Amino acid sequence: MLKKLAITAVAALTFSAGGAMASEGGQIHDVDFSFEGPFGKFDQMQLQRGLQVYTEVCSACHGMKFVPIRTLADEGGPALPEDQVRAYAAQMDIYDAELDDTRPRIPADHFPESSMSNAPDLSLMAKARKGFSGPNGLLVNQLFKGLGGPEYITAILTSYTGEEKESAGTTFYENTAFPGGWIAMPPPMAGEDVEYADGHSNSLHHEAEDVAAFLMWAAEPKMMARQHAGFVAVLFLSVLSVLLYLTNKRLWAPIKKKAKEA
Ligand code: HEC
Repeated sequence: MLKKLAITAVAALTFSAGGAMASEGGQIHDVDFSFEGPFGKFDQMQLQRGLQVYTEVCSACHGMKFVPIRTLADEGGPALPEDQVRAYAAQMDIYDAELDDTRPRIPADHFPESSMSNAPDLSLMAKARKGFSGPNGLLVNQLFKGLGGPEYITAILTSYTGEEKESAGTTFYENTAFPGGWIAMPPPMAGEDVEYADGHSNSLHHEAEDVAAFLMWAAEPKMMARQHAGFVAVLFLSVLSVLLYLTNKRLWAPIKKKAKEA
């Protein structure tokens, strides 16, 4: 029994090591994001670059209406200085019912909602989509690589084939990562779409990974705290099990001894 279990565990680990995994859609490749695994952490610089990509490219159509702008200053997130967050918020107007007019946003406001009606809100997208599932999506995979939401977003942005077709008055673009293969989003990036202040490579892949990491943070800003609490809980339970086992042995020791002597 134990041997069988061990073999299954080893097999699961081996399978999970594969690079590309099947999903509901096309091929999703694993990306080594800094925030994956039990000790993962968001990369502050990457989140700042992702925010830039989101702002300069994606926000033309998409919104993030559940994300308060002030969270951009949070430790463990992009951690922008307060004055930069204020300046960032002020670039975007909001309709204020009390004033019956528009005013610049303040950090307490949320990001705007999607300006294009068929572009979904991206606040929770990184958690709403999965990259890895199906036969290879064994739990071990998920433990070390997460569910693949950011991998799915990276793949969507980098898997256009260049083919287009018209259907019912809408143009669809062939995309090998999108379930069904045809997406209504025109290819948003081609590489070198933004100019990074830190001189980081702005190839299509890097831009896609950066914005995917940013969207993961937006969807789950407290991921690190959750992972660490989980790890501490497992550690605590392991120590408790050992203590209970030893206590049990000790409690029964005199009785066992008596039984042997009798
Ligand atoms: C020109 C407008 C436009 C821009 C710019 C744009 N998108 Fe989209 N996006 C859309 C539309 C429209 C859809 C809906 C596509 C569909 O359902 O076929 C979509 C869908 C998506 C989806 C959801 C795919 C799914 O599984 O349903 C993701 C993720 C996404 N966009 C990410 C991004 C990111 C990240 C950027 C910035 C790099 C971006 N988009 C830029 C219009 C846009």
